[in-house]
Amino acid sequence: MFGLFSFNKTPHGEALLKGVTDIHCHLLPGVDDGMDVLMNSFALLAKEQMAGVKRIYFTPHSMSVDGSVVDAKSYGAHYHSHSGNHASGVHKGYTHAATPLEKDFSTRFEGILPSDYEVSRQQEEYTAFESGIGAEFSQERLGGYSNAHLKAKFEIFRKFYKGDIDIRLAAEYMMNKGLLEKVKNHDMLTYSDGRHILVETSYFAPPIDMDTILYEIEVEGYSPILAHPERYEYMGPEDYTRLHQRGIEFQLNYLSLTGYYGKRVYAKAIDLLEKGWYTYTGSDFHRLTTFYHQIGKLLPKKKHAALLQGLFENNSSL
Ligand SMILES: [Fe+2]
Repeated sequence: MFGLFSFNKTPHGEALLKGVTDIHCHLLPGVDDGMDVLMNSFALLAKEQMAGVKRIYFTPHSMSVDGSVVDAKSYGAHYHSHSGNHASGVHKGYTHAATPLEKDFSTRFEGILPSDYEVSRQQEEYTAFESGIGAEFSQERLGGYSNAHLKAKFEIFRKFYKGDIDIRLAAEYMMNKGLLEKVKNHDMLTYSDGRHILVETSYFAPPIDMDTILYEIEVEGYSPILAHPERYEYMGPEDYTRLHQRGIEFQLNYLSLTGYYGKRVYAKAIDLLEKGWYTYTGSDFHRLTTFYHQIGKLLPKKKHAALLQGLFENNSSL
């Protein structure tokens, strides 16, 4: 009887992550406002592995302003407000140091994680990339990271990562005119189908001529997935209807369902989820502490859990 009861229970928290693909996160250390050091990425990956996550796409922020790339580490200053968007004072940028909580947390994974000594040696090599083989990128680094640079850093990360999750590299592209240069040069970090790309806008204002940018992306043979539409403060029902009707696929930040980003974002997420307008979902993890504090709060109603599981199934096609 107990078994039957358990079977019918609505999955929640970590149970929702069993066997899934995550298509959006910022776990490549030191390249944007996401993870700072290798150890924190390894610790989060260990935690996700224990939850049963199968595949994760790293999607570092990639942005261009008037055709010239800007530094992704100062990303927030350009496009986003950090206040109130992320719990525990996280999301403060590259200089964020490991908190005592993160350190305690990571020590629980001895055996899965490299030793402190090993990881500090790896961190040294990872950081040395900037002054060693990364020198060829030093000019461009003044203004941000090219795809070639992100790929090179990802390969170093992959060399050190010893877990079982299938980690892959894509990107989260800020939509603006500068992006179109990359698109026209076919210099894009896509999902594994070679066609889908993740795009975003500022939270506060639409890019100039968003519909033309989306059109030109499609003309070049790419399929844009709009990251976390529920988070754009300037978007209302007409925007969502217009974008959905012209065939743009939406990606839900599943933590929007925990109230992590506030009530307004929660309400928009539920509305779009119930309408069936999302195709994919992702964590958008920037910090280890976000997993620690938020994942247990993922308590969707039965019908929302079923819809979320459908999005995770779609993720596996990427
Ligand atoms: Fe993101």
